[in-house]
Amino acid sequence: MTNPCEGAYAKEYQASIETPAEFWAEQAKALDWYKAPKQILSEDINGMQRWFADAELNTCYMALDYHVANGRGEQSAIIYDSPVTATKTKISYSELLDQVATFAGLLQQSGVSKGDRVVIYMPMIAEAVVAMLAVARLGAIHSVVFGGFSANELAVRIDDAKPKALITASCGIEINRVIEYKPMVDEAIVIASHKPDHVVILQRPEAQAEMQAPRDIDWKEGIKTASKADCVPVRGDDPLYVLYTSGTTGKPKGVVRDNGGHAVALKYSMSAVYNMQPGDVFWAASDVGWVVGHSYIVYAPLLHGCTTIVYEGKPVRTPDAGAFWRVIEEYQVKAVFAAPTAFRAIRKEDPEADLMANYNLDCLETVFMAGERLDPPTYHWTTEKTGKPVVDHWWQTETGWAIAANLTGVETLPTKPGSSTVPVPGFNIQILDSLGNELPANTQGAIALKLPLPPSCLATIWGDFDRFNDGYLTEYPGYYCSGDGGYIDEDGYLFVMGRTDDVINVAGHRLSTGEMEEVLASHPAVAECSVIGIHDNLKGQIPVGMTLLKDGADISAEQLEKELVAMVRKEIGPLACLKQTIVVPRLPKTRSGKILRKLLRQIAENQDIVVPSTIDDPASVSEIQGIMQSNGLVKKS
Ligand code: COA
Ligand code: AMP
Repeated sequence: MTNPCEGAYAKEYQASIETPAEFWAEQAKALDWYKAPKQILSEDINGMQRWFADAELNTCYMALDYHVANGRGEQSAIIYDSPVTATKTKISYSELLDQVATFAGLLQQSGVSKGDRVVIYMPMIAEAVVAMLAVARLGAIHSVVFGGFSANELAVRIDDAKPKALITASCGIEINRVIEYKPMVDEAIVIASHKPDHVVILQRPEAQAEMQAPRDIDWKEGIKTASKADCVPVRGDDPLYVLYTSGTTGKPKGVVRDNGGHAVALKYSMSAVYNMQPGDVFWAASDVGWVVGHSYIVYAPLLHGCTTIVYEGKPVRTPDAGAFWRVIEEYQVKAVFAAPTAFRAIRKEDPEADLMANYNLDCLETVFMAGERLDPPTYHWTTEKTGKPVVDHWWQTETGWAIAANLTGVETLPTKPGSSTVPVPGFNIQILDSLGNELPANTQGAIALKLPLPPSCLATIWGDFDRFNDGYLTEYPGYYCSGDGGYIDEDGYLFVMGRTDDVINVAGHRLSTGEMEEVLASHPAVAECSVIGIHDNLKGQIPVGMTLLKDGADISAEQLEKELVAMVRKEIGPLACLKQTIVVPRLPKTRSGKILRKLLRQIAENQDIVVPSTIDDPASVSEIQGIMQSNGLVKKS
């Protein structure tokens, strides 16, 4: 087998770790800066390393104006394919620039300027990309909220980001259900203490939003009189966006992404990780509400001069499990990127991939997967049925791009099922024990990244550096703690085994069990509760609630489950997928009264159980194990 310690990959990787400033200064030359960076790697007032701090740029300029000025104006920038509305549209780089500049003009006229935050709550339509780029054009900071989140979750983000404006659409469409967004936006603004000055609404034919003058602005009416806005230069270390992600507490964390490092890392990744050339068609079948959507539906393909696909549909049922193959053939997609869940869903409905036979996939070079662990059966099925290399790569919202991957544009290494292959240049991955010692090969521990992190990674949490420091940097000084556990084998291949904290991954969506526990605990009959992620054949994991009733609570387990499921749906959103709760007589706890969540996770995962010496009542372990087994909550080995 090819040795990852020799060859083109090894050379590239070593250069990035031994001389990071030189390595990234070289990559930065691929972009058209207003003022090229002189400070490649510097420190900010918090003592965090920053990339390209003193540069001047505009990310929207690099993604659009640059290409139009350099002969790419006629090429499709976006292909919008929406099986749920039976619409297909191609938007060229020139047309997209025109739309973005005009919409930016409307935002500017509505008072948005450099440094202001703008929340975007949109379905998967081309206008979501227009909105993001328009905000970037003004040097403002967007914060996109996934459409599956409830009004309450939107309100939490509004209060944290304090946006000047909010951009939305009248509805999203889930297969054949029209989900009205405007009532949720109105409710969120009522709940939030902060009130945006304006709400810009795109009226879609499927639903008509009610407008509240003078706050609400109709997108299509507004642009009729708006004049085009120019790009506003920003510094390399100015934020491009804040994207909220789930942590271990109920409060989501606002990951801050700088303009400069983000542009450099994403541009580099398009050739190094994905082997894409300008002009190629790249499809990330994700949603703009997630980091994969930010990076690989919007910014990276456009920074690289590729064509990106905005797909408003599902892998199945829109209309069938051949949807992915149709899109790949129809638009000559060279690389597709999706969560393993999507392929599990296709496999479930079309196990022999009969529908694939209707399409010619010759254009497709590689299938990329991320967002959750790629289980070997899904890896084998996809490899066998497509006949294409399948690349698993490991990611986090915090990094904005892959931390470990098979670098198809540098040197394709042999794959190992279950492994996301090797560290991406810039990421010094180490496996640590609980004391912070680096562990030898094939020994499982915490996956940590030795500082400095490469460009694009977060340098703070929005408005809360201490939370960033406490959550990521304090446990292992000198390292960023990823929250994932795993090991590196004797060939240097990384195996990510799962989260070591209370974050779970449902259908490639990152969710906090702590947040769900807060909702369950607010039910008047619930004394205590714990939410754990259990294995699910389709979605990877799904949450299940375990509740302890208050003395005298007069409610059946069925009724309680119904009410708790409805509460989570209302408070967090349907994407949380909490469908099951069970009532238990007690939960295992420490003598100081803390619920032993790690122990519950170990039982659910069918792992070796480590009972801490601080346990209050050791008998509670076998009791809960029995209850979990009889309720089907323990993963079958
Ligand atoms: N707006 C409103 N509601 C949404 C939504 C959105 N943008 N996205 C999801 N929902 C709702 C769904 O309608 C569903 O509601 P329901 O419980 O009333 O049916 C619920 O949230 C769960 O959605 P989902 O997890 O998408 O389940 P599904 O059964 O509709 O689809 C899959 C199953 C596997 C097809 C789907 O989960 C999928 O495509 N997963 C891949 C995810 C992905 O690409 N993640 C990106 C990370 S890289
Ligand atoms: P998110 O921030 O939503 O992208 O979720 C990041 C988390 O998803 C990681 O911390 C992992 O737990 C999980 N994850 C993402 N990609 C992979 C992968 N390729 N293999 C295993 N887990 C992954």
